[in-house]
Amino acid sequence: MDNFFVFCVIILTSVTTLIASENIILFTEDSEKLQVKYGTIFTSPALKFNFYEDCIDQNPKVCTVKNKGNENYLRYFSEAEKQECVHYEQIANSMNNVLKFCVEMGSDSWYGGAETTFQHWPLNKLNWTDKPFVTSEADSQAVLESYFFNSQGFYIHINDSVALFVDINGPRPGYMCFTAKVISPYRKLRNVMQFRVCKFSNPRKAHENAIKDFLGMPKSIPDTFVVKHPIWSTWARYKVNVNSKNVNDFAQEIVQYSFPRGTIEIDDNWETCYGSAEFNLSRFENIKELTSNLKSKGFKTSLWTHPFINLNCERHTIGKRMGYFVNSTLNTVDSFWWNGNASYIDFTNPKAATWWANALRELLEKSGIDSLKFDAGESSWVPNSPVFYDSDLTYYPDNIVNAYLETIVNFGNSIEYRSSRRSQGFGRLLRMIDRESRWDFQLGLPTLITSLIHLNMIGYPFVLPDMVGGNGYNNKPPSKEMYIRWMQANVFMPAIQFSYTPWDFDQQTIDLCRRLLDIRSNYTETIVNLMRQSVVDGSPINPPIWWIDPTDSVAHCIYDEYLLGENILVAPVIVEKAISRDIYLPAGVWRDENNPESPYIVGRTWLHEYPAPIEILPWFTRMSSEQQQSNSIVHVSSTCYMLAMGFVVYLFR
Ligand SMILES: *[C@@H]1O[C@H](CO)[C@@H](O)[C@H](O)[C@H]1NC(C)=O
Ligand SMILES: *[C@@H]1O[C@H](CO)[C@@H](O)[C@H](O)[C@H]1NC(C)=O
Ligand SMILES: *[C@@H]1O[C@H](CO)[C@@H](O)[C@H](O)[C@H]1NC(C)=O
Ligand SMILES: *[C@@H]1O[C@H](CO)[C@@H](O)[C@H](O)[C@H]1NC(C)=O
Ligand SMILES: *[C@@H]1O[C@H](CO)[C@@H](O)[C@H](O)[C@H]1NC(C)=O
Ligand SMILES: *[C@@H]1O[C@H](CO)[C@@H](O)[C@H](O)[C@H]1NC(C)=O
Repeated sequence: MDNFFVFCVIILTSVTTLIASENIILFTEDSEKLQVKYGTIFTSPALKFNFYEDCIDQNPKVCTVKNKGNENYLRYFSEAEKQECVHYEQIANSMNNVLKFCVEMGSDSWYGGAETTFQHWPLNKLNWTDKPFVTSEADSQAVLESYFFNSQGFYIHINDSVALFVDINGPRPGYMCFTAKVISPYRKLRNVMQFRVCKFSNPRKAHENAIKDFLGMPKSIPDTFVVKHPIWSTWARYKVNVNSKNVNDFAQEIVQYSFPRGTIEIDDNWETCYGSAEFNLSRFENIKELTSNLKSKGFKTSLWTHPFINLNCERHTIGKRMGYFVNSTLNTVDSFWWNGNASYIDFTNPKAATWWANALRELLEKSGIDSLKFDAGESSWVPNSPVFYDSDLTYYPDNIVNAYLETIVNFGNSIEYRSSRRSQGFGRLLRMIDRESRWDFQLGLPTLITSLIHLNMIGYPFVLPDMVGGNGYNNKPPSKEMYIRWMQANVFMPAIQFSYTPWDFDQQTIDLCRRLLDIRSNYTETIVNLMRQSVVDGSPINPPIWWIDPTDSVAHCIYDEYLLGENILVAPVIVEKAISRDIYLPAGVWRDENNPESPYIVGRTWLHEYPAPIEILPWFTRMSSEQQQSNSIVHVSSTCYMLAMGFVVYLFR
């Protein structure tokens, strides 16, 4: 690797003058030590763009670096069509040059970026070092966008074609750094850093502009059946031991306990071998009979699937002969996933995609199954040093994910998928990566909320939360308490998936879950309407609470509450053994839905130690001004309110 480093630091600071100009300052650095060199200063009406660089040129629009004999060609320019934005582009002369810039996070809260194992909120709490910014199995990085924005209203969008690596609190604590370098998993003909920085009045405005500028919005909504009726997956309950008897028993239990029928999802493992697209007849003797039977009981069915064909499958030989798999410079199509050695279908080859999709279509036809759950897809599943049919060397690895998604989107609007980049337009349910039955941030219950708001804030409003209670991996199913708290947290999300069932626990769990489903059914129409609204303007369905009060610095940091639309605030208990929690209400007049007769509460305020024993899900409705008038509003102090609530809870003990 060449030693030439260009290191830039952007400091985003707010200057509260009348012109409201903001400074963006870039520094350059040779290797480790920060050496600020004042070069040229470029000012645009909305942005003061201080660019510290050592330039040969006097023209601020073109800057040729002096260092080390002009190794890098550098230019930057302000975008005329949007006053709020500045574009930046740097082209390395040698492919081995590393291009880098950093942002000091400071006291601003940052959002956006990637799905990750420890989904903390905001991003300031993460520790990422030299993270290749492509979809990957590692660190549960199934969904990402090279888009970051902060509580001040700045957004940074790095061009998808950049060979990007990201640090957050990496070698430089307090900084977020973006590096372009042409090493694995990237292959390129040249190294370019290209990004855009914009400044709007608040984070909501920034995100709304990002939607218009590049994120895009859904073109249609998912099948409302999946919103209104639960998905019952075989996965957590039966794992790979699924068969028709289990599926029938499962359905029978749902009916017997009179829980709402919905979609029965036959998860892993139903095939003769992974990728055969044929049912194993010793597990599923007669799939058509099974699906008809389920239909007669009022269920739809869906089937888990994946983009691989395992090496031990006969179809692998055919696919290999036809050149339908992702190949590699090592001339091998062999790769592996969590279910064995396999090859990844090369979806960039239209013939391969059609061959794969036709097998699934035939299967659906033969079996009477209604829909599919598409698992995996991350670019990390391809062989090392991959060669795609679409062999453009300037590719970015996530091309394969896009090609996979372009193929599966044709399977209708009741599918679900889990891996994504730039599929905001699809209008399908995007499942958050598998949750674990834990109380901590390692994919545990708190991340049900942070993943929801994170996905909404990178442009995916149709989030499918993972199964209630988590997956129970390592033979550790959820406790009754975890199950109920999980169910509460899920109520106001777009869909609900069961695998462990309420009757795996006790009567109280059954009663509470039934009641929570009743509350939910009052809001499924609201969810569907919000989905329709998303198609119009890209608006999130479950935003973080600052969405309705975008300049409130307390709200910027709240990670354990979420909104449904703009008028329902949900504050689930997600801490083990907790029987109360602190709740922050942003601007607005709020009705406590657990105590609707009590005086309305005026936000921005904290409700400290709000009582929430196991049967209570705290949630609030923001009152319109008419609603406020119809009910004499009393401005209580939150302390006063909490004392009163404590008393009410005491009475009903
Ligand atoms: C990040 O690193 C700091 C310091 O090592 C540690 O205290 C913190 O828990 C880490 N955070 C995460 C999310 O791993
Ligand atoms: C990203 O870079 C490519 C190649 O330089 C360019 O064609 C494209 O317009 C850029 N996209 C954006 C959003 O800037
Ligand atoms: C089918 O399922 C049976 C029962 O679990 C198993 O023994 C067998 O290996 C599976 N595969 C095939 C190809 O039948
Ligand atoms: C993989 O690519 C190499 C060239 O890189 C080619 O010779 C070989 O036939 C390909 N193999 C398959 C299975 O497509
Ligand atoms: C997968 O292939 C590797 C070698 O490429 C081998 O060591 C391993 O046993 C194989 N795994 C399975 C499940 O066949
Ligand atoms: C559903 O809404 C109706 C009408 O507002 C209300 O009477 C009922 O109590 C609600 N159900 C639940 C479980 O909250």
